[in-house]
Amino acid sequence: MRILITGASSGLGAEMARQFAALGHDLALTARRTDRLAQLRDEILAAHPDRTVLVKALDVNDHDAVFEVFDEVAGEFGGLDRVIVNAGLGKGAPLGTGRFGANRDTAMSNFVGALAQCEAAMTIFRAQNAGHLVVISSVSAMRGMPRTITTYAATKAGVASLAEGLRLELLGKPIKVSTIYPGYIRSEMNEKVAHTPFMTDTVTGVRAMVAAIESGRAKAVVPAWPWRLLAPAIHSLPLPLVRKLI
Ligand SMILES: NC(=O)c1ccc[n+]([C@@H]2O[C@H](COP(=O)([O-])OP(=O)(O)OC[C@H]3O[C@@H](n4cnc5c(N)ncnc54)[C@H](OP(=O)(O)O)[C@@H]3O)[C@@H](O)[C@H]2O)c1
Repeated sequence: MRILITGASSGLGAEMARQFAALGHDLALTARRTDRLAQLRDEILAAHPDRTVLVKALDVNDHDAVFEVFDEVAGEFGGLDRVIVNAGLGKGAPLGTGRFGANRDTAMSNFVGALAQCEAAMTIFRAQNAGHLVVISSVSAMRGMPRTITTYAATKAGVASLAEGLRLELLGKPIKVSTIYPGYIRSEMNEKVAHTPFMTDTVTGVRAMVAAIESGRAKAVVPAWPWRLLAPAIHSLPLPLVRKLI
């Protein structure tokens, strides 16, 4: 497969790249920190010399560039089989505390940036009449979330809804759409968060993501433990109980 991953310069995106390369897939890696992407490409090619790894600078808030880079990759590969909408930002502050800028940055990168990526990917997939669009949401999308993650959680619910709308439209068609809801997996985004029993190491957490993506499942909460128990509870319990869980 030829797979484009956005936000591949660190965390889950970088580890997905390593694991997809090990499974025999060719990759296009995008992010703003191209030095990191070049290092990752060299590491992957040293381990898997037969793979092709393209590296492209891309800020997902530059929407024209999203379309240009996706088209460029599809052109260089002669098509694109899977796009993983992964780039994301975890900044945020409680609403009404004077930090609209942080919430706006997160909303723009995680929702409008993701919309641009879905548009660009779907343009290519519709022309091919084939492809697999994968959206990285979060277990925080299960419910409105308080304080610093209110906006972040709303963006993740938003991208999950975008993906589901597409899935409904494309039922029975050859284009697949998957939504991945990761729980806490160690990455740069949460490097300052203390270790909790719910935090999974990067390799293990991403292994669960990659297995879910490879299976083509429509929706997957990963890793299974403890999130397949917690996610439905967060989704449906009354708010006072949800507050105790998170
Ligand atoms: N780790 C978790 O526990 C967890 C749980 C649920 C969901 N997620 C989601 O997983 C995805 C990956 O996050 P992570 O945990 O791996 O965090 P991370 O280590 O901070 O990685 C974030 C990635 O997104 C890229 N990015 C951020 N803003 C960007 C922009 N404007 N344009 C292009 N790329 C941008 C970064 O690259 P550059 O800075 O180089 O551009 C980086 O490669 C995010 O969507 C996040 O919301 C993570």
